[in-house]
Amino acid sequence: MMEYLKIGNLHLKHRTILAPMASLTDIVFRRVVDEIGGVGLMVTELISAEGLRKKQDRTLSMIRSFDFNTPQFIQLFGSEPESFTDAVKYIEAETDFSGIDINMGCPVRKIIKKRAGAALLKDPKKIGEICRKVRKVISIPFTVKIRLGYEEENVFEILKVLENEGVDAVTVHFRLKTDGYSSEARWEYAERIKERSGLRIIGNGNILNRDEALEKLNLVDGIMIGRGAISNPFIFAEIQDKMPGPEDKKEITERIMALVEEYYPPELRLLRIKAFTKYLALDKPEAIKIKHKVYASKTFDEVKPFFRELDF
Ligand SMILES: Cc1cc2nc3c(=O)[nH]c(=O)nc-3n(C[C@H](O)[C@H](O)[C@H](O)COP(=O)(O)O)c2cc1C
Repeated sequence: MMEYLKIGNLHLKHRTILAPMASLTDIVFRRVVDEIGGVGLMVTELISAEGLRKKQDRTLSMIRSFDFNTPQFIQLFGSEPESFTDAVKYIEAETDFSGIDINMGCPVRKIIKKRAGAALLKDPKKIGEICRKVRKVISIPFTVKIRLGYEEENVFEILKVLENEGVDAVTVHFRLKTDGYSSEARWEYAERIKERSGLRIIGNGNILNRDEALEKLNLVDGIMIGRGAISNPFIFAEIQDKMPGPEDKKEITERIMALVEEYYPPELRLLRIKAFTKYLALDKPEAIKIKHKVYASKTFDEVKPFFRELDF
């Protein structure tokens, strides 16, 4: 099994990637995963290409960086090639992110209405135009994240377009847009996609533990993990055979709270803790009682002891 993954001119030490997730893979969580180690690449929450082009404060605050060990990509969403090309120029000139990923899979109505995210899957010509124009201006690695299709599978057509435009790798979330997040991910596509596409393929969907990760690593060039990593931030280290002890877990709980305090103003801290809590300890149904206490908390100080009680 190949041990590392090459994306453009970037050699990832591990073939594992932290998925982009809105309000979850923020600077706090990426720092925590970076400190634990064992992950090859991390991707930001989805960032508005147009917001970046206009240098909006909220957008800029979402791409704050830190002194990291693991390469990080910014994930952009948008619908117009020029928003992407301007955003790429800004990222290359002003940030130390290692690459960009374009979101072509988000099913959320607000994004679809802007003809961005998964809406692009219905328009392969537009995908081609966006990628061609981005390819012309970009010198850092450039990836795209797609689903199997919008309401019908057209993944092979889309992969052909992406291959023709020379993107460096593609993440395939093995679901349709209309599947949302809860149906089984269709990993049975992995083999056919690997056979038929010359692109580096990163597989994504429903990897919740180390054993599932190791199994899926046999099928694709790299794997991307989302909810499984929030549920257990040690998952990438575990894939590298570094198993955490109870003290390590306690330390991470404290670290999350300290970083939330460092990066967010008081009025947003409680919200951040609640967002993480929803996906923490997904494999431990008994955690639900403590989660309810977290959700019922009214202040950041009140939530701390309950957050500490969560065993993930
Ligand atoms: C709360 C939440 C937010 C998400 N935000 C994004 C996003 O910003 N960009 C994106 O490409 N995918 C986003 N996703 C999708 C994930 O990246 C991933 O494709 C999906 O959750 C399936 O992988 P998983 O089963 O490992 O979580 C989000 C998923 C969730 C649950």
